[in-house]
Parts: sequence; structure tokens; C-alpha cells
Amino acid sequence: MTKKILALAGDGIGPEIMAAGLAVLASLAPKIGFDYQVEEEAFGGAAIDQVGHPLPDKTLVAAKQADAILLAAIGSPQYDQAPIRPEQGLLALRKELGLFANIRPVKIFGSLSHLSPLKPERIAGVDFLVVRELTGGIYFGEHHLETEFARDVNEYSRAEIDRILRTAFEEARKRKKKVTSIDKQNVLATSKLWRQVADQVAEDYPDVVLEHQLVDSAAMLMITNPAKFDVIVTENLFGDILSDEASVLSGTLGVMPSASHAVDGPSLYEPIHGSAPDIAGKGIANPVSMILSVAMMLRDSFGLSEGADRIEAAVEAAFLAGVLTQDLGGNASTQEMLEAIINHL
Ligand code: NAD
Ligand code: IPM
Ligand code: MN
Repeated sequence: MTKKILALAGDGIGPEIMAAGLAVLASLAPKIGFDYQVEEEAFGGAAIDQVGHPLPDKTLVAAKQADAILLAAIGSPQYDQAPIRPEQGLLALRKELGLFANIRPVKIFGSLSHLSPLKPERIAGVDFLVVRELTGGIYFGEHHLETEFARDVNEYSRAEIDRILRTAFEEARKRKKKVTSIDKQNVLATSKLWRQVADQVAEDYPDVVLEHQLVDSAAMLMITNPAKFDVIVTENLFGDILSDEASVLSGTLGVMPSASHAVDGPSLYEPIHGSAPDIAGKGIANPVSMILSVAMMLRDSFGLSEGADRIEAAVEAAFLAGVLTQDLGGNASTQEMLEAIINHL
């Protein structure tokens, strides 16, 4: 049956990397017998410009009807002081679709290991997942701003914590069977509840080791001993910050994909980085984060592991052949990077 994929290109480098992701999919699909159609809708700043809202009704309806969603990036400095921002569309989409589980894999490409700012012995063996809670916490509590006062509320229910912890334990079962739960239990009530629930959920997974880590020291360990992690699970804000920090291990944000899953309904696949306004429109963005997001979609939403493996192998082969975008210290354009990957598919 034909699978429906919704493509949300968004802003900045979004359209450039989305085109690359879809080109890889178009090249691979006939080779693996994948039958699909792509619908494109306005989202983010592009949608504000068109209809005055970052998540138009038509886009939301299309998202709910899709089998999977690809999102490139949203955001632009032009909306920094605007009453409605592109980011609100992204948060609303995550909430509307119930995309509570955001999976951000951190792996070092062998061919790129020399690009990491860390010493080779520190990044040897780095391969972990950040499981970020995506529909709760301070992102979705009350935000209140006055001239002399501001408040942001951080809230978590037991049920919200329980389900993301279970996601982390399930992921750990497929890997090295270790979960590191990251919180700020020495200060925050939400973190105290988080830690209690983590300990309770762990009882259902006796084959998986659970350790707790405070977020400040976890940030330090991510640089001094990143190979110690297998599955990290943490609340929305900590996960946002730690996953960008983790991207430095691999040398660039430009190779970092993610998947976001709901209890049921379509999953969404997007790079972890933003719209990179500083390089937008120059044809130099690294498309690998988007291309690897397509691979995650094939594996998670359509059970096409072989297709996903082929994309990942083609990316590695293109890197090994020395085709590197500027963020990786090379001089390949987006188009040249894309062509090298397609040639290796
Ligand atoms: P950013 O992630 O857009 O960029 C950070 C740095 O990484 C920049 O120097 C950029 O050039 C570089 N970079 C990012 N992706 C790259 C790629 N594929 N290839 C090469 N270089 C790349 O973060 P920012 O500048 O802080 O934010 C810009 C806008 O993006 C903001 O409006 C922010 O809210 C938004 N944002 C959106 C998403 C999303 O759509 N999911 C995620 C993060 C930030
Ligand atoms: C991300 C982004 C978003 C977030 C922004 C754009 C709202 O930084 O996907 O990591 O903070 O979740
Ligand atoms: Mn982020």
C-alpha cells in the first residue's frame, strides 16, 4: 500500500536539506520496493508568512493523516520579537500528535573521528541514545512575562514520567542494557518525582542497569567520559541542551537525526539542529542530518531496516571518500554531498 509521507521543509536551510532527504528517498525507494507519496505543507515561519500561523489547520490535518512526517527545520531571526513565532508551531505539532518520546542517537562516524574536538581515546566507543521527554515539562507549563517579573512553570505527572522511562528501558534492552536517568533531584520537585518513578519502572526491567546522574555532572561526563553512556533519559529542557552538547562529540550538529514517537499515530523525523540562518540559501548546509532522519523513518515507521542500513552505509562511504561539507572541514556543497551519498546507495 502506498505510504503517505508529509514533508515540512520550514525555514532557513530547511528547504535545502529537505530536498536532499527526499532525493535520497526517491533514489532508494525503487531499489527496496517502497511505494510512497509525498505531500508538502507550509510550516513555521513560512506558514506565518502565508497564513499568519506557524501550524495552519491544513498542515495539522495532513500530519494526522500521514503515515510518517519529515520535518527539516523552522525558525528565523526575523520573528525574534514577533507576537507569534515559528517555534510555537513546532511545539504545537509535537503536542497535538502526542510525540512524547524523542530519540536522538549519538554515534561517531569512524571516518569523522578526527574532527571531534575531543581526544581520540575519549570518543572511542561512543554510541548512545538520548531519550528526551518531548511533550511536558517547562516547555508546556505556564509562561508569564511582565516588565519586572517572569515565570515559567515546570510540571510533570507520574504517568508522563513513567511512559518515557519505559521507552528508555525498552531501547536499552535492544542495546547495552544500561539506562542513565538525568535529573536535578537535589533541587527540583519534578526531579524528585522523576527519580522515584525511574526506580519503580526499573523493577520491571531487572535485566537493565539503571543509574542516576545529576544534570550538571552529566554535562561534564558527556565530555570527559562519553563512552560510559548507553541510553540517557531526561526531561524536555535537559534533553534539549544535552543533545546539542552531544552533537559536538561527532564534530557537528549537521549529522544528527532524531525520531519522535507517540503512543499511536504517525512518528515525526527531524534533524536536532535548527534552521541555521547564518548559512541559509548558500547551498552549503550539511544534508546528512535530514538524510539520516529519512533512514530512521524507514526503520521505525515502515520496518525497512535494510533500506535504513543502506542509507547509513552510503553516508559513511561518502565521508570515507572524502566528500565533506564545510561544517566537517571540507568544501563540498549540499548538492555534492547529496550526489556522493546517492552514488554510494
Ligand atoms: P542552529 O541549530 O540552527 O545552528 C547552530 C549552528 O550550527 C549554526 O552555526 C549553524 O550554521 C550550524 N548548523 C546547524 N545545522 C547545520 C547543518 N545542517 N549544516 C551545517 N551547519 C549547521 O541553532 P540556532 O542558530 O541557535 O537557531 C536558529 C533557529 O533555529 C532559531 O530560530 C531556533 O529556534 C531554531 N531551531 C529550530 C529547530 C527545529 O526546527 N527543530 C531546532 C533548533 C533550533
Ligand atoms: C529542538 C529545538 C526546539 C526545542 C525549539 C526550536 C523549540 O531546539 O528541536 O531541539 O527546544 O525543542
Ligand atoms: Mn534544540
